[in-house]
Amino acid sequence: MQNASMPLQAFGPAGTPVSRIGLGCMGLAGTWNPAEVGQENIRRAIASFEAALECGITFFDHADIYGGTACETVFQECLKAVPGSRERIFIATKVGIRRGYYEHQPEYIRQSVHASLKRLGIEYIDLYQLHRPDPLTHPAHTAAVLDELVQQGLVRMVGVSNYYPRQTLALQQYLRAPIASNQVEISLMRLDPVYEGAAGGNGDGVLDMCMQLNITPLAYSPVGRGWLTGRRQPPADHPQRERIERILTAMQELAPSYNNATPAQLACAWLLAHPAGIIPLVGSNQPEHIREAAAGAAIQLSRTDWYKLWVAGRGSNVP
Ligand SMILES: NC(=O)c1ccc[n+]([C@@H]2O[C@H](COP(=O)([O-])OP(=O)(O)OC[C@H]3O[C@@H](n4cnc5c(N)ncnc54)[C@H](OP(=O)(O)O)[C@@H]3O)[C@@H](O)[C@H]2O)c1
Repeated sequence: MQNASMPLQAFGPAGTPVSRIGLGCMGLAGTWNPAEVGQENIRRAIASFEAALECGITFFDHADIYGGTACETVFQECLKAVPGSRERIFIATKVGIRRGYYEHQPEYIRQSVHASLKRLGIEYIDLYQLHRPDPLTHPAHTAAVLDELVQQGLVRMVGVSNYYPRQTLALQQYLRAPIASNQVEISLMRLDPVYEGAAGGNGDGVLDMCMQLNITPLAYSPVGRGWLTGRRQPPADHPQRERIERILTAMQELAPSYNNATPAQLACAWLLAHPAGIIPLVGSNQPEHIREAAAGAAIQLSRTDWYKLWVAGRGSNVP
């Protein structure tokens, strides 16, 4: 099941080995309406799951809201289709987004973890992430319930998502479990986490904080929601059209030096080269796209080529 070409990395306080690239399962059900899930949706999800396993992907990222809950439910079918797979993979999910608001109240989190476990058909969640900060819950209360879930063995590790450094520190202040990961959007189309300070534009310091606290950054939308695959043209009025074209042109120039790597592979390789140990979570429900992205893990970008892509993403030279 484990493909030797997909490297692993140590994750969380116990150094649990996980694949360098993860599969984002937001589109796994093929719909956001659970009532629409039929045999064909399940068949396609299983095909994607099997392709990911064959590539050596062991990290699977969910949220209770994905597919309107259908993604977790369909994943149970994936696990059943490949006997023994649960023990060999790492399952992450998220809690905290409700219809039109966020909620980190302990009772809501307690109910939600049981609901996710039931839908996934598993005994424990490897990584339980707060989907977005909830300004109306004191982090001390959220921390207490998360520690309780870890103590009960329902959750192995705790992570956050869309947290800026001060929000992360406020939670960690009260949490006994170390925050294992922060899932944020990072790509050549969203550079804020990469660089803090005047020279970097709107840098938010997220990657530096991750290295400071030994938090693994999980990159969502690593191929720019599909725009960085070069497989579809951004419409004329797309706000980032010029930027996308600049990045794809730079990738085209570099590809021959990397065995004609595709844009999606170079987009992943650019994230993987960062010393914080970023895990790109590629969102795809197509086996051939999953295989393509996974092969990006073998690419080692040179320092100068990493900078060329960064400059293309920034739209200006480094000062
Ligand atoms: N924490 C959060 O707030 C948050 C927010 C958004 C996403 N996420 C996580 O991040 C994951 C990925 O995010 P994302 O889906 O927004 O972004 P993404 O991975 O950058 O882009 C996904 C899109 O790109 C297409 N794609 C992927 N590989 C391709 C390839 N090789 N060739 C052509 N098209 C390709 C996919 O279509 P196909 O299915 O056709 O391949 C899909 O439309 C999600 O599944 C979820 O786990 C988290």
